[in-house]
Amino acid sequence: MTDLFSKFDDIIAMRENLLASGVEDPFSLVMEKVLSPTRAICNGRDTILLGTYNYMGMTFDPDVIQAGKDALDNFGAGTTGSRVLNGTYRGHRDVEDALMEFYAMDHAMVFSTGYQANLGIISTIAGKGDYIVLDIDSHASIWDGCKLGDAEVVPFKHNDIEAMEKRLKRIPEGAGKLVILEGVYSMLGDIAPLKEMVRIAKENGAMVLVDEAHSMGFIGEHGRGVAEAQGVIDDVDFIIGTFSKSVGTVGGFCVSNHPKFEIMRLVCRPYVFTASLPPSVVATAATSIRKLMHGSNKRAHLWENSKRLHGGLTALGFQLGTKEPQSAIVAVIMPDLQRGAAMWEALLHEGLYVNLARPPATPANMTLLRCSLCAEHSAEQVETILGIFERAGKAVGII
Ligand SMILES: Cc1ncc(COP(=O)(O)O)c(C=O)c1O
Repeated sequence: MTDLFSKFDDIIAMRENLLASGVEDPFSLVMEKVLSPTRAICNGRDTILLGTYNYMGMTFDPDVIQAGKDALDNFGAGTTGSRVLNGTYRGHRDVEDALMEFYAMDHAMVFSTGYQANLGIISTIAGKGDYIVLDIDSHASIWDGCKLGDAEVVPFKHNDIEAMEKRLKRIPEGAGKLVILEGVYSMLGDIAPLKEMVRIAKENGAMVLVDEAHSMGFIGEHGRGVAEAQGVIDDVDFIIGTFSKSVGTVGGFCVSNHPKFEIMRLVCRPYVFTASLPPSVVATAATSIRKLMHGSNKRAHLWENSKRLHGGLTALGFQLGTKEPQSAIVAVIMPDLQRGAAMWEALLHEGLYVNLARPPATPANMTLLRCSLCAEHSAEQVETILGIFERAGKAVGII
């Protein structure tokens, strides 16, 4: 018998080597108690959270929590069914209405996660014989959506406008074309040149899907994302997003102005063949999205936090993923996995949690300490964070 697990031997060895060096396991941290959007008890320590994607700090918003409690009382714990059968409650319609209002778009469709939104929309609209042109650094859910749909997949170098155009021009005349981009790329925290890319995609007869998972709520005047900030949102055919970041709960969605969009509800398998989100989750999401429409003060403070952290880490001598702060993600590049894990542990011991990211999730084989800021971090907390980075960086020999 061939052991089907033998394909995991390399990753098992990597993990054993890492733990043999005596570091705490960076991939099995337990949050014993969450005190606020920015603090938790982790492995027994009071810890500042700087790796949660809770960009707008909505997880503890009193109105959001109350909406969830009310929905639990009035609708029960779960729907036990698909959206197309018994799984559409008033709350599902309500959160879709909130999304249409938030984005000023005609259609909104909610999925159980952002992963399923990409999986469902991409695989359903781009099938055999169609072409998908996408950034090589796209999220796993985008790649998996492409695979499920069986379209011809043509990747191009990250954020390279010319490379994208070249590939588009090579596609046979008359074929269906979908360009897939992200607003913010979550590993390095850099943004896409959507203005040029969307224009070129349209000139070449392609439909455009933009995943705005890491920009919703924060980037753009109304928090609609990078497409809004760069003035091209009206030319984007599909925006994918998630409730698991700025919205502060769980779920995924697609918004669109396409006149035939509603047919998706009958033909999109990752929407049809799974249970819908629990009533408490859609109620928290709808309340959060409506509050994010009025979040301009929070957006401004989050930009200040991002600039303060980026500037401070640069001044300390850390190498960062972007020269300027472009989003709420600040990625600190580590020389290798061993030292990255040592630095991650040193930060944790000082009371700071960040994400350790490694290949294959990261581009160019990089090990990263990914920091994601929250609108609820105070300026003092960011200064404390910088102090912790300085001490840990010197102790581990990174700076
Ligand atoms: C760009 C991008 N798209 C989609 C997703 C999936 O979102 P969810 O957590 O809701 O499944 C993520 C999550 O990490 C993401 O970073």
